[in-house]
Amino acid sequence: MSRTTVARSNAAISSEGQVPPVGETGPPLPPWDLEQVRRDFPALSQRMHGKPLVYLDSAATSQKPHEVINAITRHYEEDNANVHRAIYELGERATAVYEAARRKVAEFINAEDWRSIVFTKGATEAINLVAYAWGRHNLGPGDEILITEMEHHSNIIPWQLLARDTGATLRYIPIRDNHTLDLEDLSKYITGRTRIVAVVHKSNVLGTVNPVRDIVRQAREVGALVLVDGAQSVPHFPVDVQALGADFLAFSGHKMLGPTGVGVLYAKTNLLEIMEPFLGGGEMISTVDLQGATWNQLPWKFEAGTPNIAQAVGLGAAIDYLNNLGMDRIARYGEQLTRYGRQVLSRIPDLTIYGHAPTSSSALPFNVEGIHPHDLAQLLDQEGIAVRAGHHCAQPLMRCLGVAATTRASFYFYNTPAEIDRLAEGIEKAAAFMGGKGA
Ligand SMILES: Cc1ncc(COP(=O)(O)O)c(C=O)c1O
Repeated sequence: MSRTTVARSNAAISSEGQVPPVGETGPPLPPWDLEQVRRDFPALSQRMHGKPLVYLDSAATSQKPHEVINAITRHYEEDNANVHRAIYELGERATAVYEAARRKVAEFINAEDWRSIVFTKGATEAINLVAYAWGRHNLGPGDEILITEMEHHSNIIPWQLLARDTGATLRYIPIRDNHTLDLEDLSKYITGRTRIVAVVHKSNVLGTVNPVRDIVRQAREVGALVLVDGAQSVPHFPVDVQALGADFLAFSGHKMLGPTGVGVLYAKTNLLEIMEPFLGGGEMISTVDLQGATWNQLPWKFEAGTPNIAQAVGLGAAIDYLNNLGMDRIARYGEQLTRYGRQVLSRIPDLTIYGHAPTSSSALPFNVEGIHPHDLAQLLDQEGIAVRAGHHCAQPLMRCLGVAATTRASFYFYNTPAEIDRLAEGIEKAAAFMGGKGA
C-alpha cells in the first residue's frame, strides 16, 4: 500500500485547476493549494490524543473557515439588530445582509426566484415544513407518499407522521443488491395514487447519487410533487434546481461550511402561495385581528418569529467560499478522493466497503470483520482520526445492508490523500490490537 505523508502529498499540488485522474499510480491532487485551504479551517490544525486531527466526518457536519466565523462575528459587532421591523439604519443594515444571504442561496442553486428560498433551522425542519404545510392539507386516505429505503430518518419520520395523521399510505422504493435504488421500472412505485415523492439526492451513508431528474420526469406524468433531500448533495456538487425540476429541495447550512441553526427550503412559489403557514407568530403575518389573520408575502409567510439572522449571514459567507473554489472542482476532487479511499481500504483484509454504485462519492461506509464499528471508531479516535460509527440515522438502509451499524469515513475538499492513508494505518492497527481477522 502506498503510504503518502502529508508533506509529500502537498508538495505536488497542481496549480493548473485540473484534478488528475486517480489510478493505481497514486493519490489525487486537488487544483488548489491544500495547505492554504487547510489553514483557512482553524479546527483542522488541532491535535487529538497527541496526534494531528484527521477529520473524516464532514457528512455529519463540515468544519468552518475563518471567512464564515469572521462574517458571523462581524455581523454581531457591526450589523446586529432585528430584521424587517426597525426604522433605523442599523436595522436596515441587518435586514439588507439577511436578505442578501437569501439571494446568494437562490443564485447558488439557480432558483428562478429568490422568494423560493425559505430559511429554516436545517434540512430536517425544511422537510417537516412541507409535510405539515402542504401534506396535512392535501393528502387523505387512498393517497400515496413515496420515499426510498435509502433515506435519512429526517426524510422518513415526517412522512410516517403525515401518513398516520391523514390516512395516506407510505410506500418505499427498495434497494437492490448492488446498493442502488430499484429504478428500472419506476411505474411499479409511482402510480396514479402517488401525490408526493421524497428522495435523497446523495445518500449520507453510501454516497450514492440518485437520478433525481428521471424520478421527477416520471412523477410529473402522474401529477405528483417531488421533494429532494439535498443535505448531502448541495455541499458536494453543483445543484441546479431548475435543471432538476423538483418542487422542493431541502438542505442544511452546517454541512456546507455554514453555521448550525440555518438551513433552506427551496419551493416553487406557486406551491408556497397555496400552502398554509407552518409556524405562527410575528413576521409571518400581514394583518391580525382578534379572530384571524392574513399572511405575509413570500417567503416571510414561512419565517415566523425572529429568524436566524447571523446564521444566514454565515451561510452567505460559506457560499462565497465554495464559489471561490468552484463547485465543479469540489465535486471532482471529492469523487477522486473517495475513489482513492476505496482503493486503499479495499486492500485491508476482511474489510467490507458498502455502496458500490459508480456514482458514489464523499462517503465510505465499511466494516471490519470481528470489530464492532463503535470499538473501531474509538480506537481510531486514539489515533486522532474522527469517523462516524452507528446507523447514521438510516436504520431501514442498515437493514437492507444486513448490518446494525457501519463505520463511515466522509470527505470534503480540505481532506488529503495522506489522511486516508492514516485512516488505513489506523484501521490496521486497531485490527491488530483487537486480534480481529482484519489484522
Ligand atoms: C441525507 C440527509 N438528510 C437530512 C439530514 C438532516 O440534516 P439536519 O440534521 O441538518 O437537519 C441529514 C443529516 O445528516 C442527511 O445526511
